[in-house]
Amino acid sequence: MSELTVELAGVRFGYGAAPILDGVDLTLGAGEFSVLAGANGSGKSTLLKLLVGLLRPNAGTVRVLGGSPTDPDIRRHVGYAPQGLRMATSLPVSVTEVVAAGLAPSKGMLRRLDRKDWTRVTEAIEAVGLGDLSAECLFELSGGQQQRAILARALVGHPRLLLLDEPTTGIDQRLRPALVRELRHRADDGATVIAVSHDPDEFHEVCERILVLVDGRLQRITHEEFHHQFHEHGAPG
Ligand SMILES: Nc1ncnc2c1ncn2[C@@H]1O[C@H](COP(=O)(O)OP(=O)(O)O)[C@@H](O)[C@H]1O
Ligand SMILES: [Mg+2]
Repeated sequence: MSELTVELAGVRFGYGAAPILDGVDLTLGAGEFSVLAGANGSGKSTLLKLLVGLLRPNAGTVRVLGGSPTDPDIRRHVGYAPQGLRMATSLPVSVTEVVAAGLAPSKGMLRRLDRKDWTRVTEAIEAVGLGDLSAECLFELSGGQQQRAILARALVGHPRLLLLDEPTTGIDQRLRPALVRELRHRADDGATVIAVSHDPDEFHEVCERILVLVDGRLQRITHEEFHHQFHEHGAPG
């Protein structure tokens, strides 16, 4: 596999005729932690979906871990927490079951989980502070607790690429620093982390770069530049 975790070159994408992404280039290596910022509707979630293989570019190339993001052998190394997922279901699925399902891509759906897998499930649940609620049904939890279960599901397989779409949205302020530290640990262990956020301050201590989507293109900016552009002249929408 390639040393580079993410390789985007000339990526163009639109849902209709109008391009949302228009010439996105990006290369990221192992252990790099990036925040992805940009106004509402600038294409942040779209960019992550291209990296997970849920969407395909109209032009340009998207390579992940040296291969195609739609390849199952690549996908099982990618952890994805979609934006604002809510369990609008009355299926009695527990936190433990949801998190364990995060191992399915690497185990194969029908393989039994072994003791080591269950240890990982427990660790991921502890890492997001849901240890006391692991047996609860997801739909009985608050939105912030559900969000933490979704994060644990993305973390449980120790993926080499972590794509997190507004991972702390809805989560109590006091719980956020521990989650941010956990993400940094994952990067220190070699994972490439991309976290979409409207508030790069939250990740200031841990991220190497801030990427901003503006007019369909990706810009790399410093923390100071971010403040100058978005805080002094109005926060992104
Ligand atoms: N499934 C879809 N079909 C059509 N348009 C979409 C779809 N998803 C998103 N869009 C549009 O694409 C643009 C970018 O969306 P998105 O990537 O969700 O932005 P962000 O995450 O930065 O807020 C927005 O104008 C949005 O309305
Ligand atoms: Mg979004």
